[in-house]
Amino acid sequence: MKINIIFGSDGGATRGVAAKIAAKCQGRTIDIKKAGVADFENCDLLVLGSPTYGDGTLQTDWEDNIGKLRGANLKGKKIALFGTGDQQNYPTSFLDAMGILYDEVSALGAHVVGFTDTAGFDYIESTAERDGRFVGLALDLDTQSGMTEKRVTAWLNQLL
Ligand SMILES: Cc1cc2nc3c(=O)[nH]c(=O)nc-3n(C[C@H](O)[C@H](O)[C@H](O)COP(=O)(O)O)c2cc1C
Repeated sequence: MKINIIFGSDGGATRGVAAKIAAKCQGRTIDIKKAGVADFENCDLLVLGSPTYGDGTLQTDWEDNIGKLRGANLKGKKIALFGTGDQQNYPTSFLDAMGILYDEVSALGAHVVGFTDTAGFDYIESTAERDGRFVGLALDLDTQSGMTEKRVTAWLNQLL
C-alpha cells in the first residue's frame, strides 16, 4: 500500500510526527512546499497534517499552497488527517487546522478515515471536533508530548 504523508511545519513538531508516521507504515513524507498535485493523487492512502497557528488557522505553507490540494482529484479518495496544537494556550481553537483540512477535503468528495476520541484532552472548542470525535489524529506536543508515541501507534493500528 502506497502511503503519502503531506505536512506543513513551522517549528518542526509536525515534521517530526510525519516522519514518525512514515517510519511506522513505510510511508513517504512530503513537505507541502515541495508537493505536487500528483503527490495527493498517486497513493492508496493520503495522510495530511498541519499545526494550528494564528487564532485557529492552517500553517502558512498550507495556506500558500492550498491550491495544490484544491486542484487534485480527491473524489472518493481515502484520506487520514493529523493535527498538532496546544490545548492549554489555545483552548478555544485547539487543532482548528485539522478541522479546516477536513472541510477542504470533504468538499472535494474525499472519504476521511481515522477519527479519534476526544477523551484525554482538555480544551474548550475545536473545529476539528465533529459529533463528539476528532476528525483525525489529535496531538499536543507542547503539553502532552509523552502521549505522542502511544497515540500515533494506536491510530495507525486503527487505520491499517
Ligand atoms: C503564534 C502561535 C499560535 C498558535 N495557535 C494555535 C491555535 O490556535 N491552536 C492550537 O491548537 N495550537 C496553536 N499553536 C500551537 C502549535 O500548533 C503547536 O506548537 C505545534 O506543535 C507547532 O507545530 P510545528 O512545530 O510543526 O510548527 C500556536 C503556536 C504559536 C507559536
